[in-house]
Amino acid sequence: MIKPLRKAVLPVAGLGTRFLPATKALAKEMLPVVDKPLIQYAVEEARAAGIEQFCLITGRGKTALVEHFDIAFELEATLRERDKTEALASLEGCSMQPGTIMSVRQQVPLGLGHAIWCARAFIGDDPFAILLPDDVILSETPCLKQLADAYHATGGNVVAVVDVPRAHTGRYGILKTGADDGKLVEVTGLVEKPKPEAAPSTLSIIGRYVLLPEVIGHLSRFERGAGGEIQLTDAMARMIGSKPFHGLRYEGRRFDCGDKVGFLEAQIAFALKRPDMAGQVKSFLKQYV
Ligand code: G1P
Repeated sequence: MIKPLRKAVLPVAGLGTRFLPATKALAKEMLPVVDKPLIQYAVEEARAAGIEQFCLITGRGKTALVEHFDIAFELEATLRERDKTEALASLEGCSMQPGTIMSVRQQVPLGLGHAIWCARAFIGDDPFAILLPDDVILSETPCLKQLADAYHATGGNVVAVVDVPRAHTGRYGILKTGADDGKLVEVTGLVEKPKPEAAPSTLSIIGRYVLLPEVIGHLSRFERGAGGEIQLTDAMARMIGSKPFHGLRYEGRRFDCGDKVGFLEAQIAFALKRPDMAGQVKSFLKQYV
């Protein structure tokens, strides 16, 4: 039996060093694309894929992320009093039913694999999604929904993949590929951040995963991988062969909001999708290019 996908883990413990000084006192996942923080894009995408329970893996200085999904009683009461219905409605995306979001502190920055391992009690025996909020994806069908559909069809692990220039393989988890129908590709091996000459392909994992709970057992070995960190990619690689494992070439455009230029590009792309702003943005852009 294929268990339904209802849980998501969102690792948000990173220091955000690439965005200093902005992230000195502000969680990088609270940086907005237009008017919505990165974390909320991830949560809304997950909800659209049927996720009902969320676990944030946080660290020191990240309490704003937890606050963001709580009720802001004074703010909401004031908006109601002043008939600010539009402003009130804008808060809907970050309202959570009590008990559907929790947070765990990673305490020590030992890598993405370690962050996921910190959610082991939340995951239990269930399949779960991982969304890395730095990756924001503009698509017709939410990216995680595409992955969830592939998971329900295959019953195994599914990761979102995209072809990158060979020179960039050192930034990603890279697939060794088997059978490939152009959309769904069988994963026969995984390497974290290989040098271009050593990369088994140029198909890279981006920040969306649907994994079986067995990965936690592999993470519990605390093996260090690339960069001396406990790598999720290495633990996933250990499931190849025993469980179905696929990469999904998702439909959509991914913006790397962990990178300054990618973040700026996301602002423009999302603003151009907004009927209330697109016209103005287009006309000022013409003055710059
Ligand atoms: C992490 C993963 C890597 C993946 C990437 C996607 O790397 O370790 O396998 O390709 O996310 O964004 P990081 O970006 O945290 O270095």
